Amino acid sequence: MPIFLDTSIADEIKYFHKLGIIRGVTTNPSIISRDMIDNKDLNLKDYFISLANLISPLPLSIEVTSNELNEMIDQSLEFSSWAKNINVKITIHGPKGELENIEVIHILENKHNLRVNVTAMMSAQQGLIASLAGASYVSLFGGRVNNMGYNSIDEIKKLRKLIDFHQLKSKIIIGSTREVLNIVEWLVAGADIVTCAPQFIKQMIIHPYTKETVQMFLNDGKNIQIKK
Ligand code: E4P
Repeated sequence: MPIFLDTSIADEIKYFHKLGIIRGVTTNPSIISRDMIDNKDLNLKDYFISLANLISPLPLSIEVTSNELNEMIDQSLEFSSWAKNINVKITIHGPKGELENIEVIHILENKHNLRVNVTAMMSAQQGLIASLAGASYVSLFGGRVNNMGYNSIDEIKKLRKLIDFHQLKSKIIIGSTREVLNIVEWLVAGADIVTCAPQFIKQMIIHPYTKETVQMFLNDGKNIQIKK
């Protein structure tokens, strides 16, 4: 399931889903507040239910907006009750390094049988911990890793080895895509999934030399007749 779309815009999701090339959708509070900036009165519950139905049975990740243990659990239970294909995103720790998040991940996966996408991770060692806690998905932010001067590819390779060697169930998602090149590079390095903004998928497909070649076929096609 290699490519997820990292957006909350319904038209973008509809468009790429129709092409049959995406295998899921991820969102986060920053993406939602950016995408909904002109539509602040939108009923987000209804909106997410419609997105989940639109791509069903493909997964839709929605992130909790609190870092308090009980609120994270309550929000996760609420979100996942909206549709079967909704997964919840929990950050690996809180803004001050609070570790309750890991307990939350464990409770949600093991007691409530939810699928948790552990997010905002920058290293293989964080990914290993999230995976040990039981996460269905472990999300490394590849672009942010590179921005800090570390090599995202090295972290992906290490995490791939650890998950495989210890037979952990987590799927590796790499987000924070910054260049078209990231997508194939990260998948080749061992990611199960890369989640990216829609424009990157378009850029993956369209090639100037393909355009020229197709135009040549269409021009030459005018010289031949195919009888019905
Ligand atoms: C992944 O799930 C995240 O939503 C996203 O890719 C974060 O990327 P950013 O670094 O562009 O905020």
